[in-house]
Amino acid sequence: MGKVIWITGAGSGIGKALALAYDEDQNTIILSGRKKNQLDEVASLLSNPYVLPLDVINEAEIVEAVNQVDHKFGKVDILINNAGLSQRALVQETSNDVGRKLMEVNFFGSIHLTKAVLPLMLKSNEGNIVAMSSAAGKFGFPLRSYYAASKHALHGFYEALSLELKDTNIHVTVVCPGRIKTDISKNALKGDGAAHNQMDAGQANGISVEKCASQIKKGITRNKSEIYIGGGEILLIYIKRYIPSLFRFIAKRVNPK
Ligand SMILES: NC(=O)c1ccc[n+]([C@@H]2O[C@H](COP(=O)([O-])OP(=O)(O)OC[C@H]3O[C@@H](n4cnc5c(N)ncnc54)[C@H](OP(=O)(O)O)[C@@H]3O)[C@@H](O)[C@H]2O)c1
Repeated sequence: MGKVIWITGAGSGIGKALALAYDEDQNTIILSGRKKNQLDEVASLLSNPYVLPLDVINEAEIVEAVNQVDHKFGKVDILINNAGLSQRALVQETSNDVGRKLMEVNFFGSIHLTKAVLPLMLKSNEGNIVAMSSAAGKFGFPLRSYYAASKHALHGFYEALSLELKDTNIHVTVVCPGRIKTDISKNALKGDGAAHNQMDAGQANGISVEKCASQIKKGITRNKSEIYIGGGEILLIYIKRYIPSLFRFIAKRVNPK
């Protein structure tokens, strides 16, 4: 029997590319997200799909979904918390409600699902837990204040979890993509909660989802704790780490769109 791989945000972008990349060796791919029509479309491209609609900010839905997966498969080998939502608005334009929504989807959605799946992995003493952060989980960036905060928060949580799991065969990977060519900027929220609805130049010039998915898969197979993926923008992670003043000099001059 192949692996059971659960991907959230699987109806589009990086999640869809990951589903296709893992469609081999009789793997079962559990596809989650809110838009069932998109999940069904991805399912039609796979050998062993299992469509499981899920809004990650709904805790009751998470419990129900995990029960369903436990009942049907009895295990999860790889959980990829990929669902996410970006932001395109200045701090002073972003309502508190929009800010909370970004934290709910990107942070609480990810950690609540992980917590609910963890008992299954502890039972078999194996698994890979993957959190989708961002280069904006490593440094702040204009128009993405709450987004960056939500992604930074993932690093603290998942580092703590990985240390707690040090004596198990469960591995935690945090992925930090730079700019990947998806609809993330179109779906990003403006300050009033409306969709930004624009393909930003940074996104349009990003690397392909196929390349991104292949690098994520390779990193998970190697049980890497962090994976950085993208073009030149990934250099900023290292510049921020080693020469913070240079990071500020450059980041102030980069077009945030
Ligand atoms: N593209 C990039 O340049 C980039 C860079 C760094 C990090 N990332 C991260 O990569 C991940 C995937 O993004 P993407 O680029 O592939 O963009 P995307 O196509 O917009 O994908 C986001 C996915 O998240 C799902 N989602 C949003 N809210 C959800 C909720 N409440 N419950 C369940 N699913 C939800 C969406 O599906 P539904 O609308 O159907 O729910 C969608 O499939 C995100 O975590 C993002 O922050 C992307």
